[in-house]
Amino acid sequence: MSLNKKSVDDMNVKGRRVLVRCDFNVPLKEGKITDETRIVAALPTIQKLVKDGGKVILCSHLGKVKNGPNEGESLAPVAERLSEKLGKDVPFISDYNVTGEAATKAVEAMQDGDVILLQNTRVRGAEETKNGEDFSKELAALADDYVCDAFGSSHRAHASVEGVTKFIREKGGTCAVGYLMQKEIDFLGNAVENPVRPFVAILGGAKVADKLNVINNLLEKCDTLIIGGGMAYTFLKAQGMEIGKSLVDDEKLDYCRDMMKKAEEKGKKLLLPVDTTIASGFPDPIDGPIEVSFVDADKIPADMEGLDIGPKTQEMYAEAVKSAKTVVWNGPMGVFENPTLAKGTIAVAKALAETDATTIIGGGDSAAACNQLGFADKMSHISTGGGASLEFLEGKTLPGVAAADDK
Ligand code: 3PG
Ligand code: MG
Repeated sequence: MSLNKKSVDDMNVKGRRVLVRCDFNVPLKEGKITDETRIVAALPTIQKLVKDGGKVILCSHLGKVKNGPNEGESLAPVAERLSEKLGKDVPFISDYNVTGEAATKAVEAMQDGDVILLQNTRVRGAEETKNGEDFSKELAALADDYVCDAFGSSHRAHASVEGVTKFIREKGGTCAVGYLMQKEIDFLGNAVENPVRPFVAILGGAKVADKLNVINNLLEKCDTLIIGGGMAYTFLKAQGMEIGKSLVDDEKLDYCRDMMKKAEEKGKKLLLPVDTTIASGFPDPIDGPIEVSFVDADKIPADMEGLDIGPKTQEMYAEAVKSAKTVVWNGPMGVFENPTLAKGTIAVAKALAETDATTIIGGGDSAAACNQLGFADKMSHISTGGGASLEFLEGKTLPGVAAADDK
C-alpha cells in the first residue's frame, strides 16, 4: 500500500466545497460525549480548511446502526462540541437522509470558511456499509473535493470512506488525507516499514484469534515480540504448561507453536510471561475487590485463573523496552479495569513513558489504558483507530488510505 498520499497541504480549497470524512464515533452516555479525543484530533484539518477559505462539509458514522434508515444515534452532540472547539457555529443537518434536499440547501447557503456537519452516515444502513453506489454519488454531489481524516474508520470500505472518492475523482476533484490520517500513517507506517531498531512490539488482549495476523506480521518486522494479556496463556499451554482456568484458545495451540518456531528460525526474541497473577476467578464486578497471589508461569494451579502478568514478568518486560528505539504496543497485559489486576499494564505503560524510544500505542484498549492510567501525554503517538490500527499492523491495505490520491 503506497503511503505517499496527497494531503490537505497539497490542495487549494479557496471557495471549494470540501467533504471531510471524520471519525466522530465517540462514546456517548445519555446523549453526552464522554471522551472527546476523536473530536479534538480532527480539529487541525478542519481549521486548516477553514483558514484556506474552503466550504467544509463534515460527515461521520456513529455507533453501529443495525436496522437502517431513521435509526441510531444522532451526531447532534458532536456538532455542538465542534462549535465550542472551533469557536464558530457548526450547523447540524439533522435529516436522516444524510444527503438530499436539506443537505444540498445547506451547502448552497455556505460561505467560504463555513463548516457544517451532516447526519450519521450509518443511518443509511447497507448503502453506507456495503459501499452503495447511489449513496456514494449523492455524497460526492455535495462537494468538489474530498478529505479523509477518519483513520479509525479507514479499514472500512464504506460509501463515505471509499465509494465517494471514485465519484469525486471522476469530476476532477482531489481526494486527500487530513493531518490526523497523515500522522497515523507516518507513525504506524514508519514503525512497521522503517523502524529505528531495536524495534520491540508488545501485544496483549484477550484472544490469540484476534491477533493472528498481527503476531505473524510483527514477527517479520520487529526484533523482540512481547506477549501478555489473556492470549499469553494459549502460548503457555502450547508449551505444555498447566494454565488452570485461564483464558485459552484451544484451536490456536498449533498456531502458537508455529509462531514460537518462526521466532526461533528468524532469530527474533519472543518473550512470554515467566510468572502470573492468579485468582480463583474473574472479578465480578470487573473492578470489584479480588484476592490474588503470584506464581511462576508453569505453576498455575488447576483451579486458579491467570488475570495479569506477575511481578517478575513486569520487570523483564520493562527491561526489554529499555534498549528499544521503537516500541509499538497493542493490548493490555491483564484485566486493567481492576486496580489489583492493572499492575502489569501499568508496568508496561510506565516503561514506555520512561524510554526515549518512539512509542506508539495502537488504539482501543491500550489507548484507553494509557488514558485511564495517566500516561497518555508521555507517548509519542496514541492511535485513534482500534480495528484500523490493528489492520495496519497486520500489513493490510486500508481502503480509506488506499482511496486517497497518490502524490
Ligand atoms: C471504531 O470506533 O472502531 C471506529 O469508529 C470504527 O467503528 P466500527 O468498528 O463500527 O466500524
Ligand atoms: Mg470498532
